[in-house]
Amino acid sequence: MKPVYLDNNATTRTDPEAVAVMLPFFTEHYGNASSSHAFGAEVAGAVRNARRQLQGLLGAAHDHEVVFLSGGTEADNAAILSALEANPERNRIVTSAVEHPAILSCVSHLQQTRGVEVVMIGVDSDGRLDIDAYREALTPQTAIASIMWANNENGVLNPVEELANLAHEAGALFHTDAVQAAGKVPIDLSESAIDMLSLSGHKFHGPKGIGALFVRKGVKFRPMLRGGRQERGRRAGTENIPAIVGMGKAAEIALARLAEEQIRVRSLRNRLEKGILQQIDDCRVLGGALDRLPNTSNIAFDCLDSEAILHKLEQAGIAASSGSACASGSMEPSHVLRAMNVPVSLLQGAIRFSLSRENTGQDVDRVLAELPGIVSHLRSMSPLWRERHPEAEALPESLIANGGR
Ligand SMILES: Cc1ncc(COP(=O)(O)O)c(C=O)c1O
Repeated sequence: MKPVYLDNNATTRTDPEAVAVMLPFFTEHYGNASSSHAFGAEVAGAVRNARRQLQGLLGAAHDHEVVFLSGGTEADNAAILSALEANPERNRIVTSAVEHPAILSCVSHLQQTRGVEVVMIGVDSDGRLDIDAYREALTPQTAIASIMWANNENGVLNPVEELANLAHEAGALFHTDAVQAAGKVPIDLSESAIDMLSLSGHKFHGPKGIGALFVRKGVKFRPMLRGGRQERGRRAGTENIPAIVGMGKAAEIALARLAEEQIRVRSLRNRLEKGILQQIDDCRVLGGALDRLPNTSNIAFDCLDSEAILHKLEQAGIAASSGSACASGSMEPSHVLRAMNVPVSLLQGAIRFSLSRENTGQDVDRVLAELPGIVSHLRSMSPLWRERHPEAEALPESLIANGGR
């Protein structure tokens, strides 16, 4: 049976159309965009085209506001470092406790090594940012506020326009990590207050190792990498042309299909959630009360260990991910779920299902057919569950529907 891939917030399959447009840039159009001969000129043209495709996805007013770089992590780091360097009189960063490590590790390094003051804004139990605390944290010392557009673990969307306007009232720049938002929800930067925005190709069916930082025209920018004059001096290093071309195509496809796919994927996700909540007791959709990405569902199963659930799902041909173990594989509970104060017995049993435009109703049916059996089997063996539910009997594996996978 075809495996069911529900880990699209980790990465997506590169769209075959994107792969097809990339291939000639390895062996036929292999010039360096900076060269003055014809080989260089044709490649430079392809980069210009990709920049316009990204401009389209972002609704940016100018194509040169798009800077190509190696991915979301680099874009996040470059935005933060640029803001500090361009505004040396300001030494404070305001961010949130639920950002991706690409922001959190960067700011904590700056705090430790350069004495930068970092203010981390918390969230409530739904994952809602504390806007009053955010407002108060913005002072004349603030160089930049960086708050993600959409959270990668629970999909919660932040009111980025409002946050950007508040940052500006304090004279600070506003950056948003839109790595999970780009291609999933509409973005229109033409009239926006957002100064910088990060995105990553592999999260919207483009290739890995390529991304972009939007830098609004007029925003002072200081490059993180120094070297050649590529990207108008904002990102040194020979451009990864095939990846840029592939991400451009992926952006074009994402934009063309966004309106329709947003609705279709949301309805699949909602059916998945509804089915799980109907069939399985004592589970909760984390962030479910808020406006979320249409593709993301993080569901915590009481008294269970997410790794055990994932293992059984995997045996059933379903790939999802743990909302409670961090990406490095260490079993540290997720900083996002901890910031949401998720009770311990739920925290450890959180599973993130993240869909894409490639998922179908059959994928949802597969999960709904397999998961209830898996959960009841694992719970029958969970000491904590049995302590709370003395009436429950341990069932032999053979009696559980679907072999208890
Ligand atoms: C919200 C968010 N920001 C940044 C990144 C890092 O992006 P990249 O893998 O392109 O470095 C990710 C990837 O998981 C992410 O989800």
